[in-house]
Amino acid sequence: MIDLKTFRFHKALLLAPMEDVTDISYRLICKEMGAEMVYTEFVNSDGLVRGSKRGMSKILLSDEERPAGIQLYGNNHESMLASTDIACQLKPDVLDVNAGCWVKKVSTRGAGAGLLKDPCFMQKMVAGVVRQAAQHKVPVSVKTRIGWDADFMPIVEVAQRLESVGVKAITVHCRTRAQGHSGEPDWTWIEKVKRAVSIPIILNGGILSAHDALRAFDTTPADGIMIARGAIGRPWIFREITELLNFGSIRIKLTFEKQVAIALRHLQAHIALKGENFGVRSFRKYYSGYLKGFPNVAKLRLSLMSLSKYHEVESMLENFASQLQQDVTASLQDTQAAPLAL
Ligand SMILES: Cc1cc2nc3c(=O)[nH]c(=O)nc-3n(C[C@H](O)[C@H](O)[C@H](O)COP(=O)(O)O)c2cc1C
Repeated sequence: MIDLKTFRFHKALLLAPMEDVTDISYRLICKEMGAEMVYTEFVNSDGLVRGSKRGMSKILLSDEERPAGIQLYGNNHESMLASTDIACQLKPDVLDVNAGCWVKKVSTRGAGAGLLKDPCFMQKMVAGVVRQAAQHKVPVSVKTRIGWDADFMPIVEVAQRLESVGVKAITVHCRTRAQGHSGEPDWTWIEKVKRAVSIPIILNGGILSAHDALRAFDTTPADGIMIARGAIGRPWIFREITELLNFGSIRIKLTFEKQVAIALRHLQAHIALKGENFGVRSFRKYYSGYLKGFPNVAKLRLSLMSLSKYHEVESMLENFASQLQQDVTASLQDTQAAPLAL
């Protein structure tokens, strides 16, 4: 639950910002499947200030996806303030500052997770963003990590500094910058951070299934969870989590046909955004997720990678789905016809 008026969260389910993944077509699908808040991918503040059309197109929001956040990153105070003005004109429900990106060209220049190296500078920069965003009545959140590496994990101090300048919520990716996206996330930091501040703390890192989500809520005091890779090509993870939390089991059973129908609907929206040629090609990153768990999909995935027309993808997926259905029916008939072994 998310109450935007008080900015309180309770077991909230959030879709993480992901570059080239969480465009508007995907955010809408995740929203429909139960994500309570979605975010744009991160956008460079310098680029926005220079008038980058690409940057601007990434932060456009539609009313159907709200509540939605726009995420900015940068290391330059002036650009961050000016881009805050630009982003806030689109009236996001929250403006999120990225202080967690581990990529070298971002973090070694002092942006993203690089901000963690200097908590005092991060505090000043974010304080400026909070003041600027307040002029538009937009709340500010921060997404960060537990630390730079195993020798420097300032997350508790960082959280206190951010709360003191008016940040409304913090997402903690429970890995260090040195861990990148691999390695075991350490969720025990959530409790340490919660004890130090009173704003909502969102847990991120390592939630790949509904059962992981349940474990996150059972073992930490997180006010919400944010899912990244576990949601790529698997937007129904949000619905599964909701069912598991509310009913103790996952009642929806998705057949391959249903998964294909969702994937095709997503692909159509993706194409509407990016055009057919680029849209079908850039959709390839979602196939692993959409096909996961079904037999003999490796060859299918490989074949899909070579396609660039919607109708080719559609017929390949639908043929595979109907073949799968025939195989299931045939194996059921075999089981029924088999004589009992006495
Ligand atoms: C393809 C990809 C793109 C990402 N882009 C962003 C981004 O734009 N902003 C951000 O804050 N984090 C970004 N991340 C990090 C995720 O939001 C998340 O913090 C990380 O993947 C850990 O969560 P997970 O274990 O659920 O995947 C990205 C991750 C991936 C895999």
